[in-house]
Order: sequence, then C-alpha cells, then structure tokens
Amino acid sequence: MSSEYSRRRRTLLAATGAVAATTLLPNLSRAQAPIVVKFSHVVAENTPKGQGALKFKELAEKKLPGKVQVQVFPSSQLFGDAKEMEALLLGDVQLIAPSLSKFDRYTKKLQVFDLPFLFDDIEAVDRFQATPTGQSLLTTMKNRGLIGLAYWHNGMKQLSTNKDKLVRPDDVKGLKFRIQASDVLEAQFRALNANPQKMAFSEVYQALQTGVVDGQENTWSNIFSQKFFEVQKTIAETNHGIIDYMVVANAKWWDGLAPDVKKGLSEAMKEATDFANKMAEELNQADRKKIADANKAKIQKLSKDDIAAWRKAMEPVWKKFEGDIGRDLIDAALKSNK
Ligand code: LMR
Repeated sequence: MSSEYSRRRRTLLAATGAVAATTLLPNLSRAQAPIVVKFSHVVAENTPKGQGALKFKELAEKKLPGKVQVQVFPSSQLFGDAKEMEALLLGDVQLIAPSLSKFDRYTKKLQVFDLPFLFDDIEAVDRFQATPTGQSLLTTMKNRGLIGLAYWHNGMKQLSTNKDKLVRPDDVKGLKFRIQASDVLEAQFRALNANPQKMAFSEVYQALQTGVVDGQENTWSNIFSQKFFEVQKTIAETNHGIIDYMVVANAKWWDGLAPDVKKGLSEAMKEATDFANKMAEELNQADRKKIADANKAKIQKLSKDDIAAWRKAMEPVWKKFEGDIGRDLIDAALKSNK
C-alpha cells in the first residue's frame, strides 16, 4: 500500500469516525444506524458519471429512508484510479465506477471495450451491454472479489495534442500520450509510433500543462470538466474508441446485504443507470460546444479518408489481443453495430 494511500486512508477513517463510533453502541441503537455506502470516483460532478452517482444517492436514500446513507466522493477526493480497486477490496469504500479500460489486472474480457474503432457509437455499446453476453461480463470478476452492478456510459474518445496539426496518424509519431492503465491502449499508441504513458486521471492536467506528455485521449465531458482544452492546441474528432464504466461493489459486502437493502439499492442503481445513460451523449455534445465556444483548442474535423487512415493504423491492435479477449466476444460486440 503506498504511503500516499495510507495517509488518505487515515484521513478517511478520521473523517468517518462518527460512523465507526456508532458500530460500538449497544445492539439496540446499532440496529438503527444507517448502512453507510461510500461511492468514490475520479471525475467531476458535472459529468455523466458524476451525475449518475448523485442520482444513485438521491434514489437509494429515498427508497431506504434511515436505512442507508450514501456518501459520494468525486474528483479523486479519497484516492485516484490507481488505488480505487484496492480500496474497494479492503472495504474502505463500497462502490466505485472505473472506466472499462481499468480492469486489465482483473479480467482480460473487458479489453474488448478498448479495441479501437470497434463500436460505431454509444448506442452500439448500449446494445451490446444489454445482450446476455454483455450482461455476463458483469460477473466475470466475482472470483476476484468484484461484482458489477451496472454499465454507465460516458462517450466516444477524441484525440488531443499540443501541436497545430492533427489530421493523420503520422502527426502523432514520436509524441508522448497519457493513457489509462490499459495494455490495449498502450498497444494502440505504439501502433501509431507514439509513446504511451499510463497515468492516473487526476495527474493528467498538470502533465499536459508542463509538457510531461504532449497529448491524451478522452471524451468531450472529461476534456471540458478537467480543462484539458486549455492546455492542448488541437482536438481531433476521431471517435476512435469509447469511455464507459462498470459500477462495481465488493462482492462479499454486496452478498452480505439484507434482502430488503439489496433490493432497494438494486432498484436505485437501475434507475440511476437509466438517468445517467440517457444524459451522457447530450452532456458530451454540450461540452463539445463549450470547448468550441471557448476558442482555446481548435476542434479538427476529419474526413472519411482521414478516419480510414486512423482505423488502418490501429488495426494491428485487434490481432494482438484477439487471443486474450476471444474471437467470439469480439464478434458478439461487432454485431451490435447497425
Ligand atoms: C480517464 O482516466 O481518462 C477516465 O477513465 C476517467 C473517467 O473515469 O472518466
């Protein structure tokens, strides 16, 4: 455990001392103390995930009054993405919603979501996730102590750099890119002859600002809410991949919940999922417009030929990961495109 995490862990325990104290009270009062559900995530509140988490809190507390208290910690307040799974497994928090790119160490199956140019749009992602195959992926990490409760959408990824020209794959040759902790994304940037660097989300702005990296890939809502557009020159509208999430719980904790609590939380999760997924695309497009209006980074539109060149350059990634992911799974995902 890193010292940074230990320090934050101590702060977290101190901050929640009141809750810990209630567990020491006699049985009678203990029965009445609400179950505290800590939901930690790394993005800002004005994003699809940020809004989904707040909606879940509202619904869960309404459905289970006095029984459940949901505490949402946005913007890596407790810890960053590198530590959130560890914290969940330790029981320090009960819910997290990492991007599907961040589960590499727990399952290779979810790598399917990172294959470049696999999904035409977020609706295709939604259709695939709703299939029995998509749903079965929610439980693939149960033997590792993680259970998926829902998929939440963010949106399509765009590519940005601190250079004026960003039209063809050659334009990123030799550039340094921040990536999420994903081997597929690492291979994707290597295929472009660029230099990928895995980095926690909370460190990206500064890394871009100081030139530690030249570029990054993300959705409009993350590029806007993290102000990446203020420290990048060009954002190319590549739509080359997706950022989507799995809301996961500590499986032991989830299985140990009283049936009525589990039912209430499941219902709240379902409704919060519908809410967040409906607003995701709208929010991303609104943030795209805000970025365009700010006139800081140029938004580079790409022609069909340009897109075809990016697709071709990234193609080797599919072959590299086909064995780990499984051809059947890739084909099942492909079927969701119209
Ligand atoms: C990233 O690390 O870029 C994203 O996964 C952050 C997020 O949770 O949307």
